[in-house]
Amino acid sequence: MNPLPERDSIVAIIPAAGRGERLGLGPKAFLKLGPETLLQRVVRQVRPHVGRMLVGVAQDMVASAREQVGTDAEVHAGGTTRQATMRALFDRTHEPLVLVMDANRPFVRPALIASILASAWTTGAAATFMQARAPMVTVVDGMVSLPESSGPAGVTVTPQAFLRERLTAAFAHADGNGVTDASLSRLMSDAGIRVAAVAGDEFSFKITTEFEWTIARHLVDDERS
Ligand code: C5P
Repeated sequence: MNPLPERDSIVAIIPAAGRGERLGLGPKAFLKLGPETLLQRVVRQVRPHVGRMLVGVAQDMVASAREQVGTDAEVHAGGTTRQATMRALFDRTHEPLVLVMDANRPFVRPALIASILASAWTTGAAATFMQARAPMVTVVDGMVSLPESSGPAGVTVTPQAFLRERLTAAFAHADGNGVTDASLSRLMSDAGIRVAAVAGDEFSFKITTEFEWTIARHLVDDERS
């Protein structure tokens, strides 16, 4: 693999403009996990890997997010979809390598961020891959349907990283096709850009439900004891 470029050539974009509707406790990035909010935690975790961080939050949370992150990250208003938030942040970057890290995965390991960056720098695009431990299926009209290809099935999650030209191409393709609410894996695939899969681990889990929020609070208690 190519050695990583200097940190100033790497920027992180952190979409955090969700409303946290499924959990029902308000915008998740502003929930407190131990002494920090999720936003403060992700900023602390990502900071050693990059030269600059851009955070996207809902318009009415910009002031409070700025107070929380201080000079560690720039804060901007996000959009109505995650794709729009990422786009608003990406358009403010110039660095050749872009890390994307959601604010709601507070236990991501530093080694995974480093692997994703190294893979993207070599291959152009890399995503964390969480392999399903049982066969993945889709349900069509209430009936189970198996994926067509034979490789291991699972989901792609953040952290992800991309050379800027790949993101530019993927967003241009989305614009050309009127796509406004898709994942980066979908945008890359639609634009014919291949994305390397880097194996993730369970600590990259996302907080969406009350169950995951409970686990998160226990993990932080463990960290602090
Ligand atoms: O909704 P979901 O859990 O997939 O959101 C993933 C990430 O995208 C979260 O960090 C959330 O705050 C962010 N997001 C965003 N702008 C939106 C919707 C979600 O930045 N409009």
